[in-house]
Amino acid sequence: MSVIKIRGGRPLSGSIAVQGAKNSVLPILAASVLNGGKSIIHNCPDLTDVRISLDILKHLGCDVSFSNGTVVVDSSEITCTSVPDELMRCMRSSVIFAGALLARAGKAQISYPGGCNLGHRPIDLHLKAFKKLGIITEEEHGNLNFTADSISPCQIFLEFPSVGATENIMLAVCRTHGTTTIINAAREPEIVDLQVFLNSMGAHIRGAGTDVIEIEGTEKLHDCEHTVIADRIVAATYMAAVVVAGGRAEIKNIVPNHISAFIAVMRECGASVTVCDDSVIITAPKYIRPVKMINTLPYPGFPTDAQSLVMTVMATARGTSIIKENIFGGRFNHAGELARMGADISIADKIAVVRGVRNLSGCDVAAADLRSGASLAVAALCAHGETKISNVCYIDRGYENFEQALSLLGADIERVDESD
Ligand code: EPZ
Repeated sequence: MSVIKIRGGRPLSGSIAVQGAKNSVLPILAASVLNGGKSIIHNCPDLTDVRISLDILKHLGCDVSFSNGTVVVDSSEITCTSVPDELMRCMRSSVIFAGALLARAGKAQISYPGGCNLGHRPIDLHLKAFKKLGIITEEEHGNLNFTADSISPCQIFLEFPSVGATENIMLAVCRTHGTTTIINAAREPEIVDLQVFLNSMGAHIRGAGTDVIEIEGTEKLHDCEHTVIADRIVAATYMAAVVVAGGRAEIKNIVPNHISAFIAVMRECGASVTVCDDSVIITAPKYIRPVKMINTLPYPGFPTDAQSLVMTVMATARGTSIIKENIFGGRFNHAGELARMGADISIADKIAVVRGVRNLSGCDVAAADLRSGASLAVAALCAHGETKISNVCYIDRGYENFEQALSLLGADIERVDESD
């Protein structure tokens, strides 16, 4: 079992290029089932969740290769339409294979997806949409069997702009003759990237990035090539690291307007942020100012995936900040661990009150989910002494070469194998 050890107190400097987006490449890999041909996908980060998606694709009968950041999937042969439970449980985005298999083969057998423990994460919006499309769902012994002799295109209103449900619908109807409209669709940049990928294989989708997406299904899909967008949450992670550790750094290969809400909050707490075409230069403030109220919201609002990062930044601010987590019911796993480091945080339901303290102190902490793990590493950069982070497998789900990246910026960080 490996741990990450960080000795705090070093300001960061230099420049770092940001990896491809986990939450974009995962639905894109599921979508590569659709064209029955070749998909060449560039800027693919080497993450455990990507490896699991490749295992699912191989299980379904696809030929898969992955080298130097490029994945090639050949989905000419689909020999199976069921995803094994042990793979379903590894991540949330395994559920997107249901829509892909329904479009390609008219059926899919999955179980409930796994993913970070962020509170209750039902898939009722996915199932409701499938039912509206005429997809039959049978649930037995924890398995979900979907069949669709024919999928009937229609208008689907999402009660909540669910990212996963939007993606699942887009895939399920991609090859269905007729037009399906998603109203109140998720507007995240990763949805736009999925539309670009699907259209590059011959699909006819428009509206991604807005709350109305129209999919005009077509059978004629072909080989395609795509480059995945940059990971906006990884970019936010490195920005938070600079603000907390001190110093100045350039965060490269990003789409700055994908993190406008996060940049606004970093500026509000005193950081200087220069926005360039495909990078930002961030300079830490002399001291961090508190931010009165931060609400996590669907895109383009403040991203829930950056909530643990901003809590870490506020932990050593000169005053009190309030964070409201509106997206997930249980996404404060990091608060307890930050408190072990000396943070002063009170939690009441969806609200976290963060009273800034002068210093954090290094100690042993445990990651409880992907973004919590990353935020503990960020906190360790300013903590006095050494911090040891366990359960780093969570961090590896979403961050490629995590410790190498922070070390490149000057952090005193290492990964140590502490096998029992
Ligand atoms: C995606 O999860 C991301 N994961 C999450 O990132 C991200 O936090 C989330 O979108 C919100 O932006 C991937 O893309 C792989 P949702 P997803 O469906 O699709 C509720 C990370 O750290 N809901 O928009 O699961 C749900 O419980 C991960 O990279 C239902 O109630 O998010 C949650 O409260 C974490 N019923 C809210 O909606 C449903 O059928 C948002 O969920 C579906 C969702």
